[in-house]
Amino acid sequence: MRSKLCFLFVSVGITAISAPEQVTFTKDVAPILQERCQVCHRPDTFAPMSLLTYEEVRPWAKSIKQKVVAREMPPWYVDKNVGVRHFKNDVSLTDQEIATIAKWVDTGAPKGDPKDLPPARKFDDTDQWHMGAPDLIVQLPKDRIIPAKGADQWIDVLVDSGLTEDRYIQGIEVKPTKGFKVVHHVTTSMKNEDDADDGGDNVQGIFLNEYALGKNADVFPDGAGRLIKAGTKINFNLHLHSVGQETAANVALGLKLYPKGYVPRYAETTEKVGDPKDLDIPANADNVRFDAYNTLAKPARLLSFQPHMHNRGKASCMEAIYPGGHKVEMLSCVSRYQFAWHLVYLYDEDEQPLLPAGTVLHMISWYNNSPENKFNPDPDNTITYGQRTVDEMGGAWISYYNLTEEEYKQQVAARKAKLALTAGSE
Ligand code: HEC
Repeated sequence: MRSKLCFLFVSVGITAISAPEQVTFTKDVAPILQERCQVCHRPDTFAPMSLLTYEEVRPWAKSIKQKVVAREMPPWYVDKNVGVRHFKNDVSLTDQEIATIAKWVDTGAPKGDPKDLPPARKFDDTDQWHMGAPDLIVQLPKDRIIPAKGADQWIDVLVDSGLTEDRYIQGIEVKPTKGFKVVHHVTTSMKNEDDADDGGDNVQGIFLNEYALGKNADVFPDGAGRLIKAGTKINFNLHLHSVGQETAANVALGLKLYPKGYVPRYAETTEKVGDPKDLDIPANADNVRFDAYNTLAKPARLLSFQPHMHNRGKASCMEAIYPGGHKVEMLSCVSRYQFAWHLVYLYDEDEQPLLPAGTVLHMISWYNNSPENKFNPDPDNTITYGQRTVDEMGGAWISYYNLTEEEYKQQVAARKAKLALTAGSE
């Protein structure tokens, strides 16, 4: 289904928040960079420059102001003015921090007193994992060599996990350990001996998670987990593409596990919703909209949202149409979709949507196939659905767990009570 409504979401501006009287690098700016930027902007990561010292930062001052004021850095693109507002893994800057950086740049980006400089932040290997050090790491046994030129490759590699007992997963993260530039995306899944007779449909097994450039970690709340059985093999489904230079690539899956013997109360699932296969995006068109719908068979508690589109992706929103259609609620919108950043937005405990059985999840995807889209490789093409970057997609990965009717009622009541309590205390 397609319609051509206008795209109306307003981008974020900064309000009248004041910065400190006098802003210096050592006192005010360095602490922000340490906390919010250096995890990526330091030597030997995929970010374009290091932002550790004043000398490294100073030449980028103007560009830094531009990127933080536009809220393009740090990467965090979910609209916090629409739907769920609080996220567990929110890495965005506060209005105050943005005002501080802007003022520092506007007043000539002074260094300040070296004595004010906080000690350098220490990084170790665990910083490479957004979720902290994994309990189990599974990696491709040998690097894949991607030629300088060639067609895109889609391959499956099955790797033994080495797990000798049943365990429950609390966190999943996949990342390239080598040649990240050629790794377009990776999906991981679990294969077991016992699911061998599923008729061959389920080639890849039970879905674990999806990695694409810029992806962080999927972490489930305490009490929710996914079973991984002893002897499980991990299937890596890789989409690799050549970048003009022969490149060795490898990827690792990291799992955070609940303690031995622990059985979580809720079984967590991650799946894709609303991926319209009837995409038909005209050449040179902007604000092209498609809609897709999925119905929840049982009550559910939604844990996260991760939209997936390609180069023409402009915005991706998910709303809940409650049974009977009397109530419609916007849940999440990534109103400035960025193909370079496949982020998962983890809902805060108190705001995880509680949805009754029969709720329809409605995905709304917007595309910009005009020359104004700087990521558009060719605006003169009509675009349809497909796996390649030059085709399009429009869905979201969501994590959730199902509730019984009883649990659903209890959780809705508990949330109401908590809200009444907070409202009363103000
Ligand atoms: C998750 C990793 C990550 C974090 C955190 C991050 N950046 Fe970046 N940054 C990148 C990457 C990768 C690029 C290049 C691609 C892009 O622009 O998306 C980039 C680009 C930039 C650029 C543009 C560089 C150019 O070539 O023009 C600036 C400026 C910048 N970042 C500043 C910051 C600042 C300031 C912060 C913290 C407030 C920050 N970044 C946080 C990864 C990150």
